[in-house]
This record gives sequence, C-alpha cells and structure tokens, in this order.
Amino acid sequence: MANSQTATIIIRVDPTAPDPAAIRQAAEMLRGGGLVAFPTETVYGLGANALDAAAVQRIFIAKGRPASDPLIVHIAALDQLDSVAEDVSALAHTLAQAFWPGPLTLVLKRRAAIPANVSAGRGTVAVRIPDHAVPLALARAAGVPIAAPSANLFTRPSPTTAAHVIEDLDRRIELLLDGGPTPIGLESTVLDLTVVQPALLRPGGLSIEALRQYIPDLVFVPRYIEHDSAAPTPASPGMLLKHYSPRAELLLFAGPPEHALARMRQAALAAIKRGERVGVMLPNEEIGIFADLAVVIIPLGPREDMRQIGRRIFASMRELDRRGMERILVRGVERTGIGLAIWDRLVRAAEGHVIEVA
Ligand code: TXA
Ligand code: MG
Repeated sequence: MANSQTATIIIRVDPTAPDPAAIRQAAEMLRGGGLVAFPTETVYGLGANALDAAAVQRIFIAKGRPASDPLIVHIAALDQLDSVAEDVSALAHTLAQAFWPGPLTLVLKRRAAIPANVSAGRGTVAVRIPDHAVPLALARAAGVPIAAPSANLFTRPSPTTAAHVIEDLDRRIELLLDGGPTPIGLESTVLDLTVVQPALLRPGGLSIEALRQYIPDLVFVPRYIEHDSAAPTPASPGMLLKHYSPRAELLLFAGPPEHALARMRQAALAAIKRGERVGVMLPNEEIGIFADLAVVIIPLGPREDMRQIGRRIFASMRELDRRGMERILVRGVERTGIGLAIWDRLVRAAEGHVIEVA
C-alpha cells in the first residue's frame, strides 16, 4: 500500500443503507492493506484487515498508538466468531446472542489466524459485532474481520463525526466513510471472559446493569494507571489515565449538584482572574449559573437525558479545544446506566483531577 501522504478520500454514505459501490471501494481498500475509517453505533473506527499484520501495523503508526494497546476485531455475523476466537464459552455465546450486534466487546481466547499484533502480543482477542449498517456491510464485502480502534490520534477524544476523524487523521488514512454523527458517542463496553470472574475492563455503550442480568455480581473496579512505561501491563491498556484528553486542562466536580456547581463557579472566577480562557460543559438546566461570566458554555442536553449527554461529551471537548480553551470545568454525572461510561471518560479526560465537594 502506498505511503499515505496522499489526501484521504471521503465518501458520504447513508448510515442505514450505504451505497454498495462505496462499500465495494472501501472493502477493496481494506483487502489491499489500506486503512479505512467508518462510523459505528459507538464512535468512528479506524479499520484494517485483521488478518493482515502489516496493515494492522499501519493502524498503530497512523494513530501514534503504543504497540502495547490491543485492538478490537469487528465481525459481521456470529458464524465468523470461530474464525477469530477459540474455546468460546457458553456465557460468551449467551451474551453474544443477547447483545450483538451492539456496543459490547468480548475478550476471548485468540485464534492463531489473528496476527499477534492485533492483540499486542496477548493470547486473547477483543471482538464485537457493531450495530451499524456501514461496518456490517464493509466486513461482509471485505470477507475478512476488521481490526479497528477508535479513529482518533492516541490520547485525543474519540471521534463522533467524520470531521473529528479528519481533524486527527487526514492524509494518514486512505479512505473515510462519512455516515454522519455516531448515535451513542461513547465506545463499547469491554468485558474480559478469559478470566475466572468475568471482568468489566471498560464501561461503555452497554450498561453494567444490562450485563448483570447474566453476570449478577459484575462490578467495575477502575484500575486507572498514570503512565504506560512505569506501571506493570494493565489488564486493559486503554485504562491509561491520560486518555480522551482535550488539550485544555479539565477539572471534574463531584458531589451534591448545588455544592459542586457553587465550587465550579468559584473555580471559573479564579481562572478568569488568572486570565485563562475557560469553558464549561453542563446540563441545559445548569447553564444559567454561568451566564454572567466570561466563559464559553457548552449545554450538553437535558439533565435527565443521559444518552444525549453521552453522545455529546467527546464532541464538546473537541469544540472547546478548537475554541482555544485553556481550562474546562465539568460537573460529574450519576454513575448509573450510561452515566458510568460518561463518568469514566470524564475522569480520564481530567487525568484524575476530580474535585470532591461534600
Ligand atoms: O466502540 C468501540 O469499542 C470502538 C469502535 C470503533 O468499535 N472501538 C474502540 O477501540 O474504542 P479502542 O482501540 O479505542 O479501544 C479498545 C479497548 C482498549 O481499551 C483496549 O485496551 C481494549 O479494548 N482491548 C482490546 N483488546 C484487548 C484484549 N485482548 N484484552 C484486553 N483489552 C483489550
Ligand atoms: Mg480509543
């Protein structure tokens, strides 16, 4: 494949019924060892033929991603699962039946046909069937599983629009299928089934409550780590604390809403006094509290509509970066349902700078 210093081809596709000619072109690109970005129901993915180690290598280079961080393999149907993973347990089959296609990634034992670099040398492989017509059609047309991390540069917020992908990866990838904004806006839930107790490695688009119907004692124990090099290999390297970060310094405020908001206002005033450009991300009902201050306000949606807030979180960070903010203030959300995934992304964007207000 040519060195991708050439312009990235962008093709608009209907997210529910993508043009077969566009899918054929993208599938051919993948089979030829190229990199193709595409929408999924969660975030945009940066795909390569999962059976082609050289193509997979190019993903790491394009993203600037450490080779120690494994990729998710996307398949189009359950009957492809055995070509990717082996020793698939009854529980794995049950969860696949219940939640695929959908925002659940299962970590299983890797079949040898999947090159080691897909899994960063591990004996396991992460796999999912996305609930989106574009990757489904693409995986079918290409006839191979597709390895795809989120289509952002390493440590940048995940992309939820084609414009975000271009912002990070223009000229680094051959093709981008633009299917509009992604419906969930947060990545898939990652569940490790290769350990005795199933382990929730990353909360995401599928809630822990939904998984507890099948794994009643499932809990999320965040194992955030500061740096890649110093720490021992984490179970899921994506749990690096510096992840999803905007360029601005983000502060996360937790605690009873009224108190957290009062503290946020103080912090905004102090930052303005220091001459900083300040952005705040808030539910619609709370923006009034900052209306009289020289801050950029991003309303995230109605407080009760956590799905909408989730959909906007990454895009809002990017928008505040684009507008040159030096500091971003966010109020934490309740850690239930999709809120657990939102909370996780905010903690990591804040690089652990959580201000607990009593
Ligand atoms: O929603 C999503 O999952 C999106 C779309 C494109 O499918 N993909 C995505 O990929 O978010 P990425 O690479 O940004 O995140 C994959 C996560 C990382 O936290 C990675 O460490 C974990 O899955 N992972 C992948 N393979 C693994 C493995 N074999 N064992 C443990 N964790 C694994
Ligand atoms: Mg990612």
